[in-house]
This record gives sequence, C-alpha cells and structure tokens, in this order.
Amino acid sequence: MKLHSFIEAQQLDVAQIFFLFAKAEELRKGVEKPLKNKILTTLFYEPSTRTRLSFEAAMLRLGGTVISTENAKEFSSAVKGESLEDTTRVIAKYSDIIVVRHFEEGAAKKMAFVSDVPVINAGDGAGQHPSQALLDLYTIWRELGRVEHFTITFVGDLKYGRTVRSLCYLLGKFHGVKIIFVSPASLAVKEDIKEYLEKHHVSFEEQTDFSKALAQADIIYMTRMQKERMHEGEYELVKSNYILRLENLFLVQKHARILHPLPKIEEIELPLEVEQSDPRIAYFRQVEN
Ligand code: CP
Repeated sequence: MKLHSFIEAQQLDVAQIFFLFAKAEELRKGVEKPLKNKILTTLFYEPSTRTRLSFEAAMLRLGGTVISTENAKEFSSAVKGESLEDTTRVIAKYSDIIVVRHFEEGAAKKMAFVSDVPVINAGDGAGQHPSQALLDLYTIWRELGRVEHFTITFVGDLKYGRTVRSLCYLLGKFHGVKIIFVSPASLAVKEDIKEYLEKHHVSFEEQTDFSKALAQADIIYMTRMQKERMHEGEYELVKSNYILRLENLFLVQKHARILHPLPKIEEIELPLEVEQSDPRIAYFRQVEN
C-alpha cells in the first residue's frame, strides 16, 4: 500500500480503505511494537482532544515516541514569523512523520509539498479531516456491517464542517449510498461537495424536515455549529436549530446508529443514562475506533 502523505480523503481507493479496516481489526487484538525508534511530531495550531491524543496514544501503543509543541499557534516559532514551509522542513529533520492541525485550508498540503517525511492532515480549517472520515466509515462498517446501500443523514453545520466534507468524499466511492443534508440555509453543504457527489452518481437531497430525515436514516451524523468559524452574530442565529432530544429518538429506526465526530455541545440533549444504554448511540464507540 503506497501512500505518502494523507491530506484529502479522496486519495484513498476502495482497496486501501478495506486494507486499513482489516489492519484496524488486527490491531484491536493487540499489537507488537512495529514503530520502535520512530518519532511522531504532533503540530496543532487549533485545539483538539480526540485527534491529537488518539494519534499520540496510537504512536505510543505501536512502540514509537511523540514530540510536540503545546499550541503551535502560540508557542512555535510561527509567532516569530517563521513560514509553515520552513517549520515543516525543520520538523522533518527531527521526526519520521508529522500530524498537523491548522486553521487554514490547504495548510497540510503546503507542508506535504516540502516535507521529507509523511504528513497527516488532522484538520485544515474548513477544508478536510480525512483521518476522521476514515474512522467514521470504519464505524459505519462495524455498526451496520456494510458501507454500501444505506442512507446517511448529516445534520448541523455542513458548510464549515470538515468531517462531513471528508466523509462525503469517501462515500462517493461506494454503491447505493443515499445522503440527506439537514442544515440551516446559511450553513448548507458547499457546491464542490455536491458536484463531487453528482460526478460519482451519489444520490443526495437537502431537507429542512429534521423528523423525516431522522426516520429515513440508517446513519445519523450529527455535527456541532462551529462558532469559531462563523461571522459575529451568526452562531446565535443557528445554535438552536436541529437539536437531538429524547422525543426525536423515538423517530430513529431500531437498527440505525447516531454518530458525531465530537465535541458535542448543544445539538445533542439526551439524558446521560440514555447515552450510556441505547445501542443506537454510537459516538463513543466511534471515538474508540
Ligand atoms: N473529532 C475531532 O476532531 O475532535 P477534536 O477536535 O477534539 O480533535
């Protein structure tokens, strides 16, 4: 499997995706230490809990070591005006692989262009989050037993939501997927994604009827309204749209699963005991994946 840097979800083909699913299944059973003496740099210019810690935990479990800078936006030499390209060329001398999260769309691609070592895009502004998409698809595969012939409803901030964008790119590779987009009009999925889906013959529709979209779905993919990417005042207008409450859960099919890339804030309002016990709530299993 030849893949240098991983910048965009569409880089993966179906064979590579299933290769990685099989590898993940194998790793679940326990791991040797294949990355002994290898060093991972995590370079995060934006906050993160899951992505950064899961990459770091993975590297440690695989026998490698992690170096990092606390909040690269504030504590790396970017503050002194160093270019991203120069920072990358330096870090590539110290480590064997770089995982980057950046506030600018296209930043990871810029880094990959000059890096001697592989770069993994852990989120670039409102661009993409391809490793999240891979674990999302893996979760769908584990929960439904397939990644073809199912309906997925995406809910929330579909304009700035990079996880939705990346997952759409992966879904375009599989047959019989139907996508329902539910968002406030101001946060609708962008044209480039719609064009990609059309080109790949993926059936999709944009709906405003939350109840109907919930009832039709095999997978419900909730997302957070991303205040940090919005214009002043925009968040207040949209924050109360499309909240998943107990009364909505009754509409969700028994076999369906609810995913969320997390963090979740106001868009899911379910009692803790329901989140703990209802098998349809899959977002903490998703985190584990
Ligand atoms: N899903 C995700 O990217 O979470 P973090 O922002 O906590 O990394």
